[in-house]
Amino acid sequence: MMATPESVNAPNLGVGDQIVLEAAGIWKEYRRGLPTRRRSFPVLKGVDLSLTSGEIVGLVGENGAGKSTLMKILVGALQADAGTVQRTDRFGYCPQVPVLYERLRCDEHLELFGAAYGMSRSELSSSTEKLYEDLDFARFAQTRVEELSGGTRSKLNLAIAMMHDPALLCLDEPYAGFDWDTYQRFWDLTSRRRNAGASLLIISHFIADEERFDRIYDLVDGRAVQR
Ligand SMILES: Nc1ncnc2c1ncn2[C@@H]1O[C@H](COP(=O)(O)OP(=O)(O)OP(=O)(O)O)[C@@H](O)[C@H]1O
Ligand SMILES: [Mg+2]
Repeated sequence: MMATPESVNAPNLGVGDQIVLEAAGIWKEYRRGLPTRRRSFPVLKGVDLSLTSGEIVGLVGENGAGKSTLMKILVGALQADAGTVQRTDRFGYCPQVPVLYERLRCDEHLELFGAAYGMSRSELSSSTEKLYEDLDFARFAQTRVEELSGGTRSKLNLAIAMMHDPALLCLDEPYAGFDWDTYQRFWDLTSRRRNAGASLLIISHFIADEERFDRIYDLVDGRAVQR
């Protein structure tokens, strides 16, 4: 019998403290097949992982290794079958597939999420102005998502995750659709956040620039192994 998963918001964890995310013994199985022949497939088999403030940590693994499943559990979007997650309540999550509203413009998205994060008007305008500039998509501020390219959608997806300056950023393949210039901008932006004390967990199915990461976990056979 497995233990009940526990997801605890720990408001005492944040910039200046040591640990911003700690996961222990994360277990997840998916059930597949027709209802009469359903079988369980374990994807995560006891993942232990932790992040402290001011570090960029990579989570690497082949397609289907369970990276997105793990990140969903870490941010509370999916329930684990067992294990515990403790994290700061000041976090941002950038899902692998952008979750955007086709009929809304970029600026409307940022306003909507800014309100959800409880940002003031002045915080919202200074943060969005900076992100438009850093990710170079100010010219699309008043464009509806349905008219955006895939790369610009990814920029908006990333901006939404970062706009409230969270202590912990969980990014699922954030630069998969970026061109070279945007890829460089991404690293400038995330390195600045890291140097200011934020902590970043970045999923990638391959690591091109290993030196950009402080630490790397390989997700292999359902477990996170630190390199
Ligand atoms: N909702 C679901 N129901 C059943 N199986 C699922 C579900 N979501 C994911 N899986 C399976 O779990 C495994 C891990 O999927 P996951 O998306 O976490 O992998 P990933 O490492 O993020 O892969 P990728 O590099 O392709 O993004 C895969 O075999 C996938 O088919
Ligand atoms: Mg994935």
